[in-house]
Amino acid sequence: MKFSELGLNEALLKAIKRSGFEEATPIQAETIPLALAGKDVIGQAQTGTGKTAAFGLPILQQLEKHAKAIQAIVVEPTRELAIQTQEELFRLGRDEHAHVQVVYGGADIGRQIKSLKHTTPAILVGTPGRLLDHLKRKTIDLSQVRTVVLDEADEMLDMGFIQDIESIFEYAKNRQHTLLFSATMPKPILRIGEKFMDHPEVVRIKAKELTADLIDQYFVRAKEAEKFDIMCRLIDVQGPDLAVVFGRTKRRVDELTHGLQARGYNAAGIHGDLSQARRMSVLKRFRDGKLDILVATDVAARGLDISGVTHVYNYDIPQDPDSYVHRIGRTGRAGQNGISVTFVTPNEIGYMRTIEQLTKKKMSPLRPPTDDQALHGQLKVAKAQIEDLLNDDLTKYEDEANAMLESYSAVDLVAAFLKNLSKDASDVKVKITPEKPLPYKGNGRGGHRGNNNGNRRYRGGHHDRRDRNDRHSDHRRARRGRANGHDFVIKKK
Ligand SMILES: Nc1ncnc2c1ncn2[C@@H]1O[C@H](COP(=O)(O)OP(=O)(O)OP(=O)(O)O)[C@@H](O)[C@H]1O
Ligand SMILES: [Mg+2]
Repeated sequence: MKFSELGLNEALLKAIKRSGFEEATPIQAETIPLALAGKDVIGQAQTGTGKTAAFGLPILQQLEKHAKAIQAIVVEPTRELAIQTQEELFRLGRDEHAHVQVVYGGADIGRQIKSLKHTTPAILVGTPGRLLDHLKRKTIDLSQVRTVVLDEADEMLDMGFIQDIESIFEYAKNRQHTLLFSATMPKPILRIGEKFMDHPEVVRIKAKELTADLIDQYFVRAKEAEKFDIMCRLIDVQGPDLAVVFGRTKRRVDELTHGLQARGYNAAGIHGDLSQARRMSVLKRFRDGKLDILVATDVAARGLDISGVTHVYNYDIPQDPDSYVHRIGRTGRAGQNGISVTFVTPNEIGYMRTIEQLTKKKMSPLRPPTDDQALHGQLKVAKAQIEDLLNDDLTKYEDEANAMLESYSAVDLVAAFLKNLSKDASDVKVKITPEKPLPYKGNGRGGHRGNNNGNRRYRGGHHDRRDRNDRHSDHRRARRGRANGHDFVIKKK
């Protein structure tokens, strides 16, 4: 459907055109008119299908230009996602000079306060902990907020965040309009969301599968100790432009990053224990294409939109089927193709089946490449590099080249050059600390959060909430273990 049929104003249509969007995606076509009509909306659509603009455009259109008050807030689960959303809303609202600001933890609160004092933003994007911090300090006022958006709504309403979200809703009690968006929306969570809403319209984009259509999903059966070597060989053979590798814990991410670097890959990691400056610089290098492989915990699973990610490797199978949907959704975005590969150890097969039941799509088995195939992949890359080099001006190397040709055969010289360029480092030993695969205790129900009840929301019990973002992925593990009726049962250590 055309954007011009959705009731958006000229300035926004211009911004949409500038962004290169030709047609509205289904979630945009269905939710924008509802949101413009002032309805509460729950929107669920596959990863990478433009949910940000689906809630962003109606908010921008409804801003009162000269009001000096926060008119809308958008709550995001991670700092990186908050920043990305602020940037997208800023881009879309640029022509009308919409003031969009972002607040998140790990950054100097004094500076944020100063900037909030200087100009009151019309739209404030933030992570729950930092938003609450500002609310308690009275450095932001939500009494005139008309619209509240929970992006990644199922995550925001799940146990780790729900208490913060309830408090934020208390502060924004004059709101007229609540919007919830996510690629996954388990029913029990949706019901919790409805409590904050007024007769919401539920828009579910009908798709055969929950995962984005354009992702080819594979799995590799491997023992824990074999995974690293197989992943390296796969990277060599598949030659991703940009890849994201997901690991289960921060230690995993650190070890995988060091291992990949030792083998000559251009990789860096992000997780919650790194400084915010470090997280941002790694992500920026990845976005700019200066980094080939981003290794991450689930802190990077949701929402991040980085064009050119061709491959997602789940070094560890996600413990939560929703998380699988989000992780692999970092590829196959906005009409691009993508490939995901999930490593499954022999006693994790049950997890894989539960994921497949949720996504309604089977992963295809992938045979680990042989060393020869991996070398072939590396040589392909090396040859491409040589072809590139041949386009450069090489005159100043010619004398030395001729001299070398007198002592060595051309074949030997080229072979040495190829060896040097191909990062054949399979002999570099890398030890990844084994982590016991989680025992799977399938109960045959096959459902997804089958008999959860509303009580789950009262079980959170976090001590230092402000810091939640940082510890989120580890908390998730603990939380899932306690969640009543969840299909993945986590044994206490
Ligand atoms: N109508 C459109 N046509 C083409 N591209 C679009 C359109 N709308 C949004 N996009 C682009 O698609 C990409 C994905 O959008 P977005 O990040 O909003 O997806 P999402 O649905 O929120 O995904 P996720 O579930 O992973 O958060 C972005 O780069 C965005 O600019
Ligand atoms: Mg999103």
